[in-house]
Amino acid sequence: MVPGADLYRKGISVLNIGIIGCGDVATHSYMPGLQAMADRANVVAVFDIFQNRVDDALGFFPNAAPYLDYDAFLGHGPEKMDLVFNLTPAPLHRDITAKALEAGYSVYSEKPIASTLGEAAELVALAEEKGLHFFCAPAMMVTGRFMWLKEFIYSGAIGNPYFIKGQIGGMGPASWRTYSGDPRVFYTPKVGPLVDLGVYQLHALTGLFGPARTVSAVGGIMNPTRKLLQPALFGEEIEVQAPDLYSINLTFDNNRNANLFNTFAMPATKSPMFEIYGSMGTVSIGQHQWFDGNGTTDIYVRDESEGGEAEGWNNDSPVPNPIEASDILGSGILHALDVMANGTDNVLTAAHAEHVLEIMLAAGESLKTGDSIEIASSF
Ligand SMILES: NC(=O)c1ccc[n+]([C@@H]2O[C@H](COP(=O)([O-])OP(=O)(O)OC[C@H]3O[C@@H](n4cnc5c(N)ncnc54)[C@H](O)[C@@H]3O)[C@@H](O)[C@H]2O)c1
Repeated sequence: MVPGADLYRKGISVLNIGIIGCGDVATHSYMPGLQAMADRANVVAVFDIFQNRVDDALGFFPNAAPYLDYDAFLGHGPEKMDLVFNLTPAPLHRDITAKALEAGYSVYSEKPIASTLGEAAELVALAEEKGLHFFCAPAMMVTGRFMWLKEFIYSGAIGNPYFIKGQIGGMGPASWRTYSGDPRVFYTPKVGPLVDLGVYQLHALTGLFGPARTVSAVGGIMNPTRKLLQPALFGEEIEVQAPDLYSINLTFDNNRNANLFNTFAMPATKSPMFEIYGSMGTVSIGQHQWFDGNGTTDIYVRDESEGGEAEGWNNDSPVPNPIEASDILGSGILHALDVMANGTDNVLTAAHAEHVLEIMLAAGESLKTGDSIEIASSF
């Protein structure tokens, strides 16, 4: 039996939480999110390798035990900490998650799950062997909008949905003047725009259309150097070591296809972030709408009846059943707490994250070889 179900049976509704990595996303999203859910989540321990980051965390949770050493944090005790959030930089995810699972903690990992398929499979096996919960961001498919959209597009409302066009990017963190983390890591070989941002769209695409079957990509490194714009690092020039532009074609079962344009080399755009085309309509999510998990959606319906009165856009259509959290990251926290406290099914599965990792690695391979790559995994 998994611990969450056990907890539920014991009637415990407040879960004890640990935070690993108290940087930008922790202080801007996860900590405020957990604070807002204090009736269900009690942050009992925080860990970072830097004292100032730990101090920031204590500002949110003054009663949490502070740790500067990972082994000491893990020594806090699984019986006193139900779930830990791994909010460290992407290249560390695998090692941090593995040690937490080995020590008996259920884990919520920021994306990506790991850097290779072998590593991801090991983590999945470890979580299963230990009977622990393992949640993997990004939480697209548990946002209010995407939970509804999945039902909506298969309800016949836009006929047969057959193509998704996704786009996500910008110039990347080197240009985010107020970014408080280390922007350099995003241009290293294990990160890049796909691992940082494309991953959101890939979870949404596959969450709606199911497992991808083939992947082919064009792109590469467009801007080989970047000037950092954060005040503390201003003017430093870094080398771009990961492709900074991808255009990825994906095929799915049932004659469905998708394209994802994803980049750290796009100064600006006026394109929508996500569009779904069906025989009888279009769903469009603009840049101003995407980041709100309960946000509105523009829907175009065709009308083939005589006169065609119903044909046209229904802009800013609301989510019929908005959830408590309106941001994508908060939707993930809410989901994890719900699964662990109430025994609901985990949608943020490691299998889905592993499948998306295989797509991302295949896109990188296709950039180099020009081949269309078959995807073996499913979820
Ligand atoms: N910043 C965002 O807006 C954002 C949004 C969504 C997801 N994410 C994801 O969240 C993760 C963290 O991103 P971030 O922007 O917060 O980065 P960050 O660099 O600001 O924060 C990472 C924190 O981890 C700490 N750290 C480094 N090595 C560590 C170690 N060995 N053990 C414990 N802590 C360690 C750092 O000191 C830092 O405080 C990444 O995977 C990123 O992709 C970030």
